[in-house]
Amino acid sequence: MSHAEDHEGTRRDFLYYATAGAGAVTAGAAIWPLVDQMNPSADVLALSTIRVDVSGVSEGSQITVKWLGKPVFIRHRTEDEISQARDVALADLPDGAARNANLQDGADASDENRSLDADGKWLVQMGVCTHLGCVPLNDAGEFVGPSGVGGWFCPCHGSHYDTSGRIRRGPAPENLPVPPAEFVDETTILLG
Ligand code: FES
Repeated sequence: MSHAEDHEGTRRDFLYYATAGAGAVTAGAAIWPLVDQMNPSADVLALSTIRVDVSGVSEGSQITVKWLGKPVFIRHRTEDEISQARDVALADLPDGAARNANLQDGADASDENRSLDADGKWLVQMGVCTHLGCVPLNDAGEFVGPSGVGGWFCPCHGSHYDTSGRIRRGPAPENLPVPPAEFVDETTILLG
């Protein structure tokens, strides 16, 4: 083999591998987002059920926890927030469904069907606007409770949710969903 042939062969080999390598990278880039979406990472799977200590959540305030990668609002409501939510006529609600994963489909959107406990002190709901997915602001909007707390407002396109997290005005089509949740002792909520 002459020196020239040897050189050409080496160059051809190099081009072949370079092309194969570029092809592999392109295919990988196209496929990865699909694979990524279909396989929740280990830490997400591990958090499909979480326990939340609510002993430090005072009346009239809320905490936001992350569950399955999304915000969940856990609110300790005041008497005012509860009575305002329970005084609303169902006919005034744009979305008449409870949207509560703990109840059968078909349950109505009464506050009793959305709050976690019978007295209505605790409201647990996804902090994701049902319009296009922004995170609504608490204690804001046109349906804030009488004492100035409660209610949510999504500033993205102007959706107003009442003190039960039900859509009342704006483009959002549905009430904020209530995820699977229960009290497992006096101060611990199990989510998921
Ligand atoms: S995302 Fe909330 S109003 Fe559009």
